[in-house]
Amino acid sequence: MMKFHILTLFPEMVEQGLNTSILGRAIENGLISIEAVNIRDYTENKHGRVDDYTYGGGAGMLMQAQPVYDCHRAVSGGRNVRTIYVTPAGRVFNQGLAQELSMEEELIFLCGHYEGIDERALEAVATDRISIGDYVLTGGELPAMVMVDAVARLVPGVLGNDESASYESFSDGLLEYPQYSRPALWMDKPVPKILLSGDHKRVEEWRHEQAIEVTKRYRPELYEKYSEKINEIKKH
Ligand code: ADE
Repeated sequence: MMKFHILTLFPEMVEQGLNTSILGRAIENGLISIEAVNIRDYTENKHGRVDDYTYGGGAGMLMQAQPVYDCHRAVSGGRNVRTIYVTPAGRVFNQGLAQELSMEEELIFLCGHYEGIDERALEAVATDRISIGDYVLTGGELPAMVMVDAVARLVPGVLGNDESASYESFSDGLLEYPQYSRPALWMDKPVPKILLSGDHKRVEEWRHEQAIEVTKRYRPELYEKYSEKINEIKKH
């Protein structure tokens, strides 16, 4: 059972989003657990405050060190648990990193809000700082959910056979080929003939060619990487 803990000021946001569909089934089956923990529950401030102005001035409030540290301590119990601070000021998440994180037994995601979190708390608890891309969101909850989803689907058994077979994109470095379902003719548009041929080998070849075309068109830099890799393999 892989355990995910999400430390946040908005636990309901995370709970609602992650207990549905495939991840909901995985939780029911005991393959993963997802716990959202409210950082506010750990503040020592008698008014329940968790934020304050930043030293040095400037707009916006900062989450204070004490509630974040104590919340983390309560969840980790002092054990060494890989702890990801979710921030645009970190390394960028990708499939390789998802694979690496899926090897852990337990992960803690720390979500900031407002202008972020006091650096001293981050130094004390964060083992990683990870962004989901070069754009700024209002908080770390959505990025944490993105990462939990990407990691959880790699846990053995979370995807059924049908689901896992269907998504090879990124594992071979190419984007996915186009797919079609019934009817064979829709709005005067036919399904590519090869797919109706029943010739499994030609279908696979066609899909591979299409994956290359799609990658060239939408992600030329990914295609460059892919063709370099293929050329390396051919040389040896
Ligand atoms: N918090 C706000 N924007 C973010 C992003 N792009 N990635 C991770 N955390 C964030």
